[in-house]
Amino acid sequence: MLSVMNLRGWLIVELGPRDGNVVLDPETIVAWFWSLATMPIEEAASIVNPAFHQAAAAPTDPPVHLRPLPDEVIQLLFEVGAPPRLAAHLRAVHDVARQLIEGFVTTWPQLSFDADAVSYGAATHDIGKALYPNELTSPGDQHESAGYSLLLQKGVPERRARFARTHAEWDEEGATTEDQLVALADKIWKGRREEDLEQLLVQRIVTATGYEPWKAFIHLDELLNRIAAQAEGRLQFQARFAVSTR
Ligand SMILES: [Fe+2]
Repeated sequence: MLSVMNLRGWLIVELGPRDGNVVLDPETIVAWFWSLATMPIEEAASIVNPAFHQAAAAPTDPPVHLRPLPDEVIQLLFEVGAPPRLAAHLRAVHDVARQLIEGFVTTWPQLSFDADAVSYGAATHDIGKALYPNELTSPGDQHESAGYSLLLQKGVPERRARFARTHAEWDEEGATTEDQLVALADKIWKGRREEDLEQLLVQRIVTATGYEPWKAFIHLDELLNRIAAQAEGRLQFQARFAVSTR
C-alpha cells in the first residue's frame, strides 16, 4: 500500500533531498511519475518484445551491419503488432535502399528523386503483412492494398505511403523512379537481379545524364554487385526471427 511516507521516501531517492514538503507539490509528483511512465519507443519495445527490438533496432552481429529502422517506423510497426520477421525484413530492405540512394546520388546527381520517400517506402513497403502474416511465408498480394490503407489511416501522406501498394508494380505505366528504387531494394537485398527493372532505371539515368546506356549500366551493375555481396548475411539475419508476433 502506498503511504505518504513511503511515497516521500521514493521521491527523495529519485530526486534527492529537498527543502519543504515535496509530497504535497503536485507538479513534482506528476513530473516524477511522468519520468517513470515515458521512455523512448525503442526502449519500450526492448522490454515488451525483445525479439521485435532485436529485429528492428538492436546492433547486428558482424559481418552484417544494418542500420536500425527509423524511430517513427519502429513506433508504427509496434502499434500494428508487426512480427519480428517482418521488422527484420523491413530493416534489411531499408538498409539496402539507403545504400542505393547513396550510390545514385553520388554517381548520377543529375537524376532527381525523393530520397526521403524511397527510404520511408523501403522501411514500410510490406507493413500490410502485419495484417496478413501468412504472406510472410507464402505468396500473396492482399498485404499490398491493406498496407497502403493502413498507412493512410495512420496519417502517412500518399507521397510516403504509396510504396505499400506499388512495390510489386514497378513495370506499370505510372511507376516512378521512387517506386522502382524501392522495388529494386526489395530484390537486391537478397541478391536477386531483375534485368527488366534494372533496364528501366538505366533508361531514367540515361535521360537525366545523357550517358550511353552501357556506361550507366556498368556503374549500376557495380553498385548492385557490391550490395548483393552481403545478401547471405541479410538472409541469415532475417531467418533468425519468428513469423509469429512473439
Ligand atoms: Fe519485401
